Amino acid sequence: MLNIQEEAVRCLLCENAPCSAACPHGDPARAVRAIRFDNLAIAGRWFAGCTPEDLERAEQACLHYDRPIRLREIAAVLPVPSPASSPSLAIDFCGIPCEHPFFLASSAVCTNYEMVSAAFESGWAGVFYKTICLQEIREVSPRFDALKRTGGAFSGFRNMEQLSENPPETDFDILHRLKENYPTKVVVASIMGQSEEDWITLARRAEAAGVDAVELNFSCPQMRLAGMGSDVGQSPELVTFLTAFVKQNVKIPVIPKMTPNLASMTQVAMAAYFAGADGISAINTVKSLTPGGVVSGKRAISGFSGRAVKPIALRFIAEMAKNPVMKNLQLSGIGGIETWRDGLDFIRLGCRNVQVCTAVMEYGYRIVDDLVSGLQAYLTERGLASVVELVGEDLDNIVRPADLDRDTMVFPTIDRARCIGCGRCYVSCRDGGHQAISFGDDRVPHIIGTRCVGCHLCRLVCPTGAMGEARRIPKRN
Ligand SMILES: Cc1cc2nc3c(=O)[nH]c(=O)nc-3n(C[C@H](O)[C@H](O)[C@H](O)COP(=O)(O)O)c2cc1C
Repeated sequence: MLNIQEEAVRCLLCENAPCSAACPHGDPARAVRAIRFDNLAIAGRWFAGCTPEDLERAEQACLHYDRPIRLREIAAVLPVPSPASSPSLAIDFCGIPCEHPFFLASSAVCTNYEMVSAAFESGWAGVFYKTICLQEIREVSPRFDALKRTGGAFSGFRNMEQLSENPPETDFDILHRLKENYPTKVVVASIMGQSEEDWITLARRAEAAGVDAVELNFSCPQMRLAGMGSDVGQSPELVTFLTAFVKQNVKIPVIPKMTPNLASMTQVAMAAYFAGADGISAINTVKSLTPGGVVSGKRAISGFSGRAVKPIALRFIAEMAKNPVMKNLQLSGIGGIETWRDGLDFIRLGCRNVQVCTAVMEYGYRIVDDLVSGLQAYLTERGLASVVELVGEDLDNIVRPADLDRDTMVFPTIDRARCIGCGRCYVSCRDGGHQAISFGDDRVPHIIGTRCVGCHLCRLVCPTGAMGEARRIPKRN
């Protein structure tokens, strides 16, 4: 049977997709994108009205490198779409009303007026504009490298980029015009100084430009000049000092952005909090070294982002959100957000705002549609009226390792209808588990109950989803 998600992953996500152009009564490209970005429940909306002839024409128009996407088969098995509904995604962040929580992160996706304007027109609620500094920025070529998963999608992304290459006056003028022309959108200036005078100058100029808040970039890991970026963000003393300085000089909210390149973020975040920070953004990129991105034969340690860093970001967010001392701190979550579910994970850990960079670099501003409609569909399914009800709802479930239940276990179960007899569960259990699966010439795996410890490695490696789970039971002695 067709696996819809796997088929959707094959889609090249073309610009101005020929399949949709060939389909007069629907938008197959939009439907496939919805499936790709975890919106299976509503993807059928864009197939409604399509005739089999439309879809045949769309398949013939499909650009591909092996075979066209099986649009007719996808349309035939998609669930009936849930009716469109729009529960409120409006939320305040640091006292600023936002139409929804999804913002562009300060980066390559927002370096000039036209880019941010296009992003706002696409539906993004706000921008943390590319970091402005007073120093000359000289970038390298190439600047990027990516680790890819099957199908070519990025699992992680390394960048060597520093800050805005525009003169500061150009950037402040852009911010001013953005705020003037898009008064309902939220514009945050990200700044980075090298001295306390720099920080104050930049913050004051940002406020004068009319922005809603200022983000303090204490976290870029690949600055050419010392005493900037993550050099600052690793020192609670410097963070206290500079946050307090900026706070004394502007009235708009001040949001330090944290580096993940330290053992504990809480100490530095607390320094910012006690210095008067209104919120914290986390995370910036993780220091890394990948094989590519070679500059005239040399490589340097630089920032890693994208899907692979999301668990690291969630860890830091959870630690800050659970710290009772910083109870009123507002959090903006960043790191590997690609789908609405990724955003939801951050929101449920206490973030009132989330930022996206790598996924936009890979797929474009258009993904905001899927972020917004997916979160709305989720709220509808849960019967919730507002996204605010989700903020922090998962925090009580995050506990210390010592507080996890160690007295019960859950056996895996095998769905014989789905099992194709590949033996991957057997191999992993034998070589990385407890030798609790038997597998013979008949190619039928069996769980050996007396050996199984319920680790669930078998479930994680099963390619067909045939491994389910039984009821939780007390452990045998
Ligand atoms: C190409 C690139 C440029 C970036 N530039 C900046 C920057 O100027 N200021 C900043 O605070 N963070 C910068 N970042 C970090 C991102 O804002 C973000 O914190 C990080 O990439 C994690 O989010 P992601 O996984 O959605 O990309 C940059 C990231 C990338 C990939």
